[in-house]
Amino acid sequence: MIRINENFSKLVASYLFVDIARRVTAFQQAHPEMSVIRLGIGDVTEPLPPACIEAFHNAVDEMAQRDTFRGYGPEQGYAFLREAIAKHDYAARGCKVEPDEIFISDGSKCDSGNVQEIFATDVSIAIPDPVYPVYVDTNVMAGRTGVATEGRYANVTYLESTAANGYVPALPAQPVDLIYLCFPNNPTGATATKEQLRTWVDYAREHRALILFDAAYEAFIRDPELPRSIYEIEGAREVAIEFRSFSKTAGFTGTRCAWAVVPKSLKAFDSQGGEHPVHAMWNRRHSTKFNGVSYPVQRAAAAVYTAAGQKQVRGLTDFYLENARLIRGAMENLGLTCVGGDNAPYIWIHTGRDSWEYFDLLLTKAGVVCTPGAGFGRCGEGYIRLSAFNSRSKVEEAMDRLQSVLR
Ligand code: MLT
Repeated sequence: MIRINENFSKLVASYLFVDIARRVTAFQQAHPEMSVIRLGIGDVTEPLPPACIEAFHNAVDEMAQRDTFRGYGPEQGYAFLREAIAKHDYAARGCKVEPDEIFISDGSKCDSGNVQEIFATDVSIAIPDPVYPVYVDTNVMAGRTGVATEGRYANVTYLESTAANGYVPALPAQPVDLIYLCFPNNPTGATATKEQLRTWVDYAREHRALILFDAAYEAFIRDPELPRSIYEIEGAREVAIEFRSFSKTAGFTGTRCAWAVVPKSLKAFDSQGGEHPVHAMWNRRHSTKFNGVSYPVQRAAAAVYTAAGQKQVRGLTDFYLENARLIRGAMENLGLTCVGGDNAPYIWIHTGRDSWEYFDLLLTKAGVVCTPGAGFGRCGEGYIRLSAFNSRSKVEEAMDRLQSVLR
């Protein structure tokens, strides 16, 4: 008899953004006269930078010629891209990351969801609340949690990120093995200083724990004092994996290209305390289950690092940050307290009301889609998230609608 993985039965709801999409579709079907503006899921709207498009086209042309055609590429990614990332994103900021410590992938969602499978199912996990739901759900699927009561799974240490701690969680009271951190944060848009990250790196070193650091929104940091990579913190190479993505930086949500850094100095342990290099394990997993990102996509991604590409991606992130400034300003004008939007594309808004009810209110009265904070965890109740990813005209119209509905 074929049996199911019963851990899936513990999942409390469908994937957050699928749930929201379903509600929005139902609303649109019932109200075809209403134009809906989506500030829910963080999906980019602006086209790929011209430098990426040119490289993309050229690489497609190479695929059309026998002499330049390519079949399977290296599972870990082409050297030209790994070298460009190591040079521009790490060496230029004083971080030591070798090209062969970079694993090119099709997304940080996949990487942050897949990585847990190289660790024991009984390691204790620490996950922020509120949080990008992928970290929690993939651990539920793997059987690392108990069942959920009142929205919280047993066997998870929730790292509460609230206004009281500036949305940067404190160290857990009990020891944990696998720690998820994300800065600039999704969903709160909060950032962590070097000192705050150092506390976590020191904790991980002391407890032989491992940090999974999601830096997918790093390109939105404008404050020069803020760290863009966990490897800016001394000792992080021994305790942290970092995820980065071209999705939000260069508009690749539909094109798909990202990477994970797994330093060769990173160790995990077997039940006898024996040390194992995580790099070798991730390499084994990645090369067994993944066949690499397509050559034209990797060429398009590498074009981000040309002089023109750098200017263009800066223009893109500046554009979304200006949207974020407009959104935050409009919501603050309505008397709501906000965080984020200055070094991140998300604005986390305290409404003090049931967040799904507020979602319904904005959708039905203004035709504006937000993400209800409760979808990110218990600490998200009373909040909504607005995303800055949309055209300027749509953002302006959404803010006009919200100002008239919420006044
Ligand atoms: C979000 O809206 O939180 C993101 O778009 C999710 C993602 O990047 O997968």
